[in-house]
Amino acid sequence: MDREALARRYYNVETLRRQARRVLPKVIFDFADGGAEDEVTLRRNESDFDALEIVPRMCTGPAERDLSVELFGRRLELPVLVSTTGLSGILWPQGEICAARAAHAAGTVYCQSHGSTCTIEELAEVAPGPRWFQVFLYRDRGLTASMVERAAAAGCEALILTVDNQVLGQRERDLANGFAIPPRLGLRGLLDMVRHPRWLLRMKGARGISFANYRGAAGHEDDILSLGAYIAKMLDPGLSWRDVAWLRGLWKGPFLLKGILHPEDARIAAEHGVDGVFVSNHGGRQLDGAVSAIAALPEVADAVGDRLVVLLDGGIRRGVDVLRALALGARAVAIGRPHWWGLAVAGEAGVALVLDIFRRELDRAMALSGCARIAEIDRRLLAPAGRGAAPAARLRLVGPARPAPAAG
Ligand SMILES: Cc1cc2nc3c(=O)[nH]c(=O)nc-3n(C[C@H](O)[C@H](O)[C@H](O)COP(=O)(O)O)c2cc1C
Repeated sequence: MDREALARRYYNVETLRRQARRVLPKVIFDFADGGAEDEVTLRRNESDFDALEIVPRMCTGPAERDLSVELFGRRLELPVLVSTTGLSGILWPQGEICAARAAHAAGTVYCQSHGSTCTIEELAEVAPGPRWFQVFLYRDRGLTASMVERAAAAGCEALILTVDNQVLGQRERDLANGFAIPPRLGLRGLLDMVRHPRWLLRMKGARGISFANYRGAAGHEDDILSLGAYIAKMLDPGLSWRDVAWLRGLWKGPFLLKGILHPEDARIAAEHGVDGVFVSNHGGRQLDGAVSAIAALPEVADAVGDRLVVLLDGGIRRGVDVLRALALGARAVAIGRPHWWGLAVAGEAGVALVLDIFRRELDRAMALSGCARIAEIDRRLLAPAGRGAAPAARLRLVGPARPAPAAG
């Protein structure tokens, strides 16, 4: 399908999600779509956006909008980054390379996960950037340090330490589907794969999908199961601010923490030389019951002012959600699942389409709200109930406006 036909058929993120659900085996769709335990935080990440009403301004003048934004001295065409997602190569061969190329073409950042199916070096060779790299803190500090060194050598422009994943959340769709370590897919799971021949055929050529950055690290097998178990064992639940300071010392460029929700943590991060934070709950995949990213945002933004670059991920599904997050103090946002739906449907062209959908939707939302530039978007654009420093309680009163994703 050519790009225009693709864009006609998939005119928003939800249409791509529905198609991804059709084309992917259930076990893989659920791995991406699902969250932790009862998925309360996952749902609130989305529904809390709906509760924020925009009060648009009229007759403001300029006929054109400028969606560009500066992050750490680099100008991006769009305030929407591609968030870090491990194992993108299970959706489409060379998934990370497809996504990074699409991000580059859209003029934005691709955040590469530690758990990518290609190495840092392989991505650097084929995706011109800008690329950021995400790490975890491991019991073996040498392993974390070696990833950091490799990211610097490969020209990654920023380092992200994800801080909310040192203990793994319980994702119950994966348990039900047998998508765990060790896997228990059973006959039903195998039939599910066979029932998706297009995905199966496409992936036939992509042999040996694994956590490519760890090849050789475990001292034994490099297959996805052995390395997955090794990584899980290596995560250090004792992560502390001392470790943050240690990593800060290792990395010369912009250094961000991902998974901050408490304003006090953002303040402490600034004191430890951190340059930016992702207000994030890992897309509702870790602590179920955690505050939604958008509800946590204003207090974090207020706590740090200009001392940190504040980004947000979690629940962004529309251009108008980007507008709302920027209004509450985010400098830019990042998308996890939405870019996976594009990838599952059409590889690189699919991710390009997702970014284009966000560009068009944000442009339209800005035009209809009377904003010509990103810098003009602030809290005055929101109805008073959503403007305050702690909208969480008020948001709960409004309640979810979007239906929960069906678990089946
Ligand atoms: C399939 C999947 C894999 C992910 N892998 C990682 C990862 O390796 N490292 C990380 O820091 N976050 C990871 N995340 C979390 C995302 O970076 C991001 O925080 C989340 O997806 C944002 O929510 P959204 O999906 O609603 O946009 C993953 C998310 C998904 C859906």
